Amino acid sequence: MSNNIKTIHPKGLYVLFFTEMWERFSYYGMRAIFVLYLAAKATGLNPGVGWEKADALALYGWYTMMVYVMAVPGGIIADRFLGQKKTVMLGGFLLCIGHLILAFDTLTAFYIGCVFVVLGVGALKPNISSMVGSLYKKNDPNRTKGFTLFYIGINIGAFTAPLLVGYVGETINWHYGFGLAGIGMLIGQMVYIWGQKYLKGVGDFVPKPLDTNSGKVAKVPLTKIEKDRMVVLGLTFLIAIIFWGAYEQAGGLMNLFTKESINRTIGSATVPTSWFQSLHAFYVILIGVPVAFIWNQLRKKGKPSSTIFKMGIGTIITGLGFIFLAKAALDASAVTNGQASMIWVLIAYLLHVVGELSISPIILNFITKLAPVKYAAMMMGLYFCATGFGSKLASIVGGAAFEGSTPLQVFTAICIFCVLFGLLLIVFVKKLNVLTHGADEEVEAEPVESA
Ligand code: PHE
Repeated sequence: MSNNIKTIHPKGLYVLFFTEMWERFSYYGMRAIFVLYLAAKATGLNPGVGWEKADALALYGWYTMMVYVMAVPGGIIADRFLGQKKTVMLGGFLLCIGHLILAFDTLTAFYIGCVFVVLGVGALKPNISSMVGSLYKKNDPNRTKGFTLFYIGINIGAFTAPLLVGYVGETINWHYGFGLAGIGMLIGQMVYIWGQKYLKGVGDFVPKPLDTNSGKVAKVPLTKIEKDRMVVLGLTFLIAIIFWGAYEQAGGLMNLFTKESINRTIGSATVPTSWFQSLHAFYVILIGVPVAFIWNQLRKKGKPSSTIFKMGIGTIITGLGFIFLAKAALDASAVTNGQASMIWVLIAYLLHVVGELSISPIILNFITKLAPVKYAAMMMGLYFCATGFGSKLASIVGGAAFEGSTPLQVFTAICIFCVLFGLLLIVFVKKLNVLTHGADEEVEAEPVESA
């Protein structure tokens, strides 16, 4: 793509920016009301499905797991058959169909719609992110900025969706909400179709004539250094599962807890529960740049800032966020109306985002540095899987709050676990850094991107 003097970024970036913004709008909009709809009473003005909360969380867990696990076949389809550009187009169509099916008022439509969304996100999400990278040459200084802009697009979509889709779904009709998410996806798909002219040569299918030799290449044993790095990679995936397992309480347990145990009235108005699902994205937009700035300042002052160290700190901070949720749960059980102040939830989400910004933007880069070249694409796919497994873990742990345990116990347990795990990482940081064999040393300015 050509860069002229006026436009710093290739026009294709804006096409991908708006496509992904709308895709995330549909995804996060639907997600914001997913458990609320399933757990809402099946009677009344806006009937839900009337499920037990634990069941709603279990399905939510499968759903949020599968969307990212499907990123693996999504990547394979792009690499082997269609190229990224066409796979994104296919994913977009699947998403439009899925979201529109969700607008129908039956549980069967809900299931079928979810399957389409899972397949659609799997095809679209990993490939559109890679396409952003291919808009720039490897060493183009604008590359990082391009990713940062793209990530802002993601978060604008993720911020506005719960406000609009959540409001319509929760207060008018769940299915109008799902329909609205679908309209968002349709707009995204139209932008993508229209913008094809700006994506010439980006994400096209490149046949690999050497594929037949890959069997031979794969037999070459890993060197000692590569093996050590694989150990660190394995640990990185474990950190990802634990971090997302805590962070992804948001759309599940935290969503249901906010509905029941948080006082959402401001003056005479009541804030819809789903609106709290906007907070992550809101905070990312608000503090994304300052947090990156702080890490850079620390780095300049020679303070340790290896990726593993940051991941440890991020896990601890995320864990600490749960103290405020435990406080809210304590308060709620102490008062007659059973509801605590929303301030605790607002602080918890803030700490979760500080944690996210210490982990998510650097992890992809870390994986590319550690993975042996021949496994690079596979490792990326596995990272998406790890985020998916984290989401399922979140729903299992969150579900315990309604099956034998209480939200207070679950929040406290997550807090203790994350803090201890993070501390353990920090204790072993030097040893683990040795195992990276210098792969993590050339630390550049951190982009504010994560996907
Ligand atoms: N906010 C990010 C996004 O929706 C969260 C995420 C990170 C999702 C990494 C998948 C993988 O894109």
